[in-house]
Amino acid sequence: MSSVAATAAWRALVKAASDPYQRAGRFAWHFARGKLRWDPVFSHLLARGVIAPRTRLLDIGCGQGLLASLLAAAAQAARDGRWPSDWAEAPVDVRVSGIEVRERDVVRARHALGDGIDIVCADMRTASFPAVDAVVILDVLHYVGIADQDALLARVRAVLPIGGKLVLRIGDAAVRRGFAASAWVDRFVKLARGQGFDRSAGRTLAAWQARLADLGFAVTSEPMHAGTPFANMLLVATVERPGLPAPGLRAEQPACGSTTLR
Ligand SMILES: C[S@@+](CC[C@H](N)C(=O)[O-])C[C@H]1O[C@@H](n2cnc3c(N)ncnc32)[C@H](O)[C@@H]1O
Repeated sequence: MSSVAATAAWRALVKAASDPYQRAGRFAWHFARGKLRWDPVFSHLLARGVIAPRTRLLDIGCGQGLLASLLAAAAQAARDGRWPSDWAEAPVDVRVSGIEVRERDVVRARHALGDGIDIVCADMRTASFPAVDAVVILDVLHYVGIADQDALLARVRAVLPIGGKLVLRIGDAAVRRGFAASAWVDRFVKLARGQGFDRSAGRTLAAWQARLADLGFAVTSEPMHAGTPFANMLLVATVERPGLPAPGLRAEQPACGSTTLR
């Protein structure tokens, strides 16, 4: 972030995007503030205009819906004339749907955002995807095995039009130390969340790029782990040619029970 005005605008956006989580409890609010402040991907998406105005967006593995909250705050800032002049066009009128397997996060998102996100509690491997212009998958695919990742990417490709975008953050398994650091953190997070303690399913950046190219995407990538010991890369993949037919859906599994907030 370059200018003083942009830094101030970003601070105001973090506050506006995290305040709604006070309705979802103290943990949800502190988590929202911390994640938006320290994870470089969120300010990057806004400042660089990765999400275009008037996009229909699907956020897979959306957690408590932070991206939807940030996009709503960004649109409001733009309407109020508080959008930094050195940022790309503001993502106004973006309609976000989310898929999240963890019911506690779904409940938090609904408490915080109400109609601001159309979120379903489901396993991404079996949930059906709506037709959208862009799909975001941040730090999620390593939760499932390589075959499931490939099937999911093919289904994502199938719902995107030519020119549609997939925004994907993954760990680059070629960067051994950074990848191992995130794999250990992920193991403990999964354990704490009751999602098992299995190894992360990773591949190198080159392998991710090759897989996406096979599906008909043109891919750009850049490091997205500033200030952390990880090896995270942000891939922006744009559909440039028709892909192969997507595999069929497995039978949908009931993913969520009933959860109350603490
Ligand atoms: C590291 S968090 C990232 C959350 C969000 N994308 C973000 O960047 O703030 C990974 C999320 O993926 C969700 N997840 C894991 N496996 C999933 C699955 N099979 N279907 C849907 N969501 C899943 C987890 O519950 C968790 O909320």
